[in-house]
Amino acid sequence: MRYVCAMFKFAHISDIHLGPLPRLSLRELFSKRITGFVNWHRNRRKHLFVNTLDLLLSDLKTHEADHLVVTGDLVNLATSIEIRLAGEWLETIGDPIETTVVPGNHDAYVPGAHDKSVKAWYPFIRSDDGPAEWPEDDHVFPTFRRRGPVAIIGCSTSNATPPFSASGYYSPRQARETVDLLKKAGEEGLFRVVLIHHPPIHRATSSHKRMIGIRRFAAAISTGGAELVLHGHTHLNTLYWLTSHHGQVPVVGIASASQGPGGHKPRAAYNLFTLSGEPGAWNLLCERHSLTENGDGVALDNSRLLYGELPATASIPEAARML
Ligand SMILES: [Fe+2]
Ligand SMILES: [Fe+2]
Repeated sequence: MRYVCAMFKFAHISDIHLGPLPRLSLRELFSKRITGFVNWHRNRRKHLFVNTLDLLLSDLKTHEADHLVVTGDLVNLATSIEIRLAGEWLETIGDPIETTVVPGNHDAYVPGAHDKSVKAWYPFIRSDDGPAEWPEDDHVFPTFRRRGPVAIIGCSTSNATPPFSASGYYSPRQARETVDLLKKAGEEGLFRVVLIHHPPIHRATSSHKRMIGIRRFAAAISTGGAELVLHGHTHLNTLYWLTSHHGQVPVVGIASASQGPGGHKPRAAYNLFTLSGEPGAWNLLCERHSLTENGDGVALDNSRLLYGELPATASIPEAARML
């Protein structure tokens, strides 16, 4: 079946790092969390703001996106309280049908945290045809959701790592299953969007933060075919391209949704994607909306056409078109 898509809008945010940090017990402090606790107080506390996230989401609401994707790092140290609060926060932003989540390294900060996060956020993670409750195994990923003309395929690189490491792992099993899902979605003429927390690109981040399995992921995309890859983790606004048997695939990263002004990382932003067209002739516009310099609002600051032509209704301010 071939889809002719009038228009479908989806937004991407990442690296929420919901604060403030809860008080930790001594037992929690003596785990890997002590390094994260010190780091957070040293660096992030100054620049990550909850009201920044609120500003971003209320601006996003005005664009009436059909779907929102969140590529991990919802919390900081993955304590039970943070995981529960992140679940409650997810409930406030919308129906699990309209929001898809994959976890990041901070959501699996210590052994056991990954499962707690997946269980707590499961309605936002699960595949359309997956069990209604978390099945208590680690075979949840890759997930598959179909929304309008889009197939959303969620991968996980999230696993507990030693102190001072923020690496991710993409397993051979996930790669095999990702290929199957991509092929199936391709046969159905869907626009395939793959979510993954770590950037699947060599040298996109330092070696202690890198993803293990980059080549495996690239091979899965090349074999299965995909139209778009979205990631977080770097807290940067980036665009890379993966070469596949089916052509070039854009790989888009986004700043932390909680990054206030004045830090060394770019201010909080979300990407809004407007999709139209049909298989083989897709049009995809990517518009980045960022926190303003003084931190009191959100404005369009970058537009880029990733496929085809501008949708008939799109109007891009000249300043944004130049970027
Ligand atoms: Fe992060
Ligand atoms: Fe991360």
